[in-house]
Amino acid sequence: MISTTTKTAAVTLKAVESERMRVDGSDAKYGDWRDDLAKDGYAVIKGAIPKERADKYADQMYSWLEGFNLGFDRNDLATVHKDRLPHITEKGMCLHYAVTHEDFAWAIRGESGVVGAFEKVYNTKDLIVSFDAINFTLPRSDIPENKPWPHQDQDPAKPGFRCLQGLVNLLPNGPDDGGLIVCPGGHLLSDEFHHDMADEERIPAWTPEWYGFTENGMKWLEEKGLEWVKVCADPGDLLVWDSRTPHYNLSSTTNQPRFAAYTCYMPVADATQEDLLRKKEAFDKWVGTTHWPNARHTGSNIAKREGEEDPHNRTEPVNKPVMDERTFRLTGIPYIKEST
Ligand SMILES: [Fe+2]
Repeated sequence: MISTTTKTAAVTLKAVESERMRVDGSDAKYGDWRDDLAKDGYAVIKGAIPKERADKYADQMYSWLEGFNLGFDRNDLATVHKDRLPHITEKGMCLHYAVTHEDFAWAIRGESGVVGAFEKVYNTKDLIVSFDAINFTLPRSDIPENKPWPHQDQDPAKPGFRCLQGLVNLLPNGPDDGGLIVCPGGHLLSDEFHHDMADEERIPAWTPEWYGFTENGMKWLEEKGLEWVKVCADPGDLLVWDSRTPHYNLSSTTNQPRFAAYTCYMPVADATQEDLLRKKEAFDKWVGTTHWPNARHTGSNIAKREGEEDPHNRTEPVNKPVMDERTFRLTGIPYIKEST
């Protein structure tokens, strides 16, 4: 009896391991965090990076902030001020200064426990990764407050599971330390939501791949019984969420900073050669992208300070990444065909 059960389980496992997750309510059971992702639209992969290495990355990130030599000191929270830091938005995003290509950013992207999680979801090792922002949420009152901005990162006109977003958390992140807020189950109700809310006036967005929830939209979610959850995490945990899952981030109300690296991967098969060439150009110029790994949008390294170009702008990383072959493949460059 026992051997029969084992055999059946093995066969079932093989069947589900041989395909990409659908995240539409029809996925088989995996017996791990993928079941949470399918059901709730988000999941926490505990210890995706070993604690010692997560601590090392956090230390490198602190050093990077201090390395501008503007007076920020990790041991003195009184030095948390925009004049003493590179430009960081009220949502904690640092988008310029080639930060996305620093050695620590690429080391995090190349961590086997991080990229491996996406390999499991997409059932392929042929992935590309975004060159997205680094989040430094510091306890601060020198910049405007971060207001809730509940949204989906996906065009309602292009439904279905299209993108799995991720972030690696690098410092202790408890209930009041700021960070990711999600609305579990919202991904599976997305089609119904957009059908019912088709006439609702849209919150202006710079890209169709962003949908902001209005008051009416929030009420719709509430009436469906959905609730909002603050995702807590330890250093080295990977948080993933379906782009359709309503989400936003909050500032810390404690003295605990929050550091995170956004890590989003997709199968290279989902990108065109044109996408890969645009991605290579971003890599060569040390600029960033949004969370879309196909480099749908590319950024710049020209940060502004008080409306003027920041004199502390950088056009290349301080510590350039040294990549192994597996990590380099995530740039997409090895997948560019010679004839293009
Ligand atoms: Fe988002």
